Amino acid sequence: MQGKTDRAAWLKGGDARCNVEPKKQSHPYRLVLLGAPGVGKGTQAELLHARLNACQLSTGDIFRGIKALAECERTPAAKQALDCMLRGDLVPDEIVLSLVAERTRCLRCGGGFLLDGFPRTVAQAEALDQLLAKQTVKLDAVVGYDLPTEQIIQRLSGRRICPKCKKGYHVQSLPPKVAGVCDHCGTALQQRDDDRPEAIRVRLEAYEKNTAPLAEYYRSKGLLLSIPATETPEKTLERTLQALQAKQNGGAKPPPAKR
Ligand code: AP5
Ligand code: MG
Repeated sequence: MQGKTDRAAWLKGGDARCNVEPKKQSHPYRLVLLGAPGVGKGTQAELLHARLNACQLSTGDIFRGIKALAECERTPAAKQALDCMLRGDLVPDEIVLSLVAERTRCLRCGGGFLLDGFPRTVAQAEALDQLLAKQTVKLDAVVGYDLPTEQIIQRLSGRRICPKCKKGYHVQSLPPKVAGVCDHCGTALQQRDDDRPEAIRVRLEAYEKNTAPLAEYYRSKGLLLSIPATETPEKTLERTLQALQAKQNGGAKPPPAKR
């Protein structure tokens, strides 16, 4: 059964506290989920949370949260972040890093964490290294999901989200029982603003230019586990858990760098 989670401190930052402190794990997993937009990071984060208990911490969720604020509550930095997100561009590093730096409570949480969508640039990865060193915690692994571009576009263009409970669907691979309606709360499903074709194109370009180099960054540190994301979410989860287990047992040596 999925463990209860409350990401208040991640979503609100600052002094916000979780109502549900996750159980301290004998091995709290501290993972980064890496991969192109639409590869399935959020889907895997939910499934991994159910198995490992670590919280899904998504920077995209923080930025989407700005949309729910009234105009007058949005700071200039929040407005800039929202504009970037709607276009499909990356939010500038200084904005992302200032938000993450307010949330160190989540990084030192005894339940571990699943960082989804952060870091996304080498500068962010270096800043994360420093933040974690200050909290005296280390990453266990960086799970890099790989998927051909045509499948990425299919996944993004068919994605639907419940605006109320945030449950994700896909019109073909994960349809709701009643078309367009959330199974859990009966709310009408929506398409994400940045899942429009022109924003998808910008997001894929931003990924190739800024985020893809992180695979090499983490491979060189012996942290990268490359997992194909072509199979069902459940099979991808099993592959991820097997790779984590192998790494924990010392069986997984970092694969050689691609030439
Ligand atoms: P973010 O929210 O992180 O979006 P993203 O990286 O573009 O990734 P997505 O959430 O679109 O895809 P996903 O990999 O989670 O896939 P999902 O599981 O939903 O960021 C949004 C924006 O915020 C960025 O563009 C940027 O502007 C900004 N931002 C965020 N973090 C930032 C940072 N650190 N720095 C700068 N800017 C930042 O799956 C997709 C679909 O496929 C779903 O419909 C799902 O049901 C389906 N699916 C999933 N797995 C499978 C499967 N195995 N088989 C079939 N269908 C599947
Ligand atoms: Mg996501």
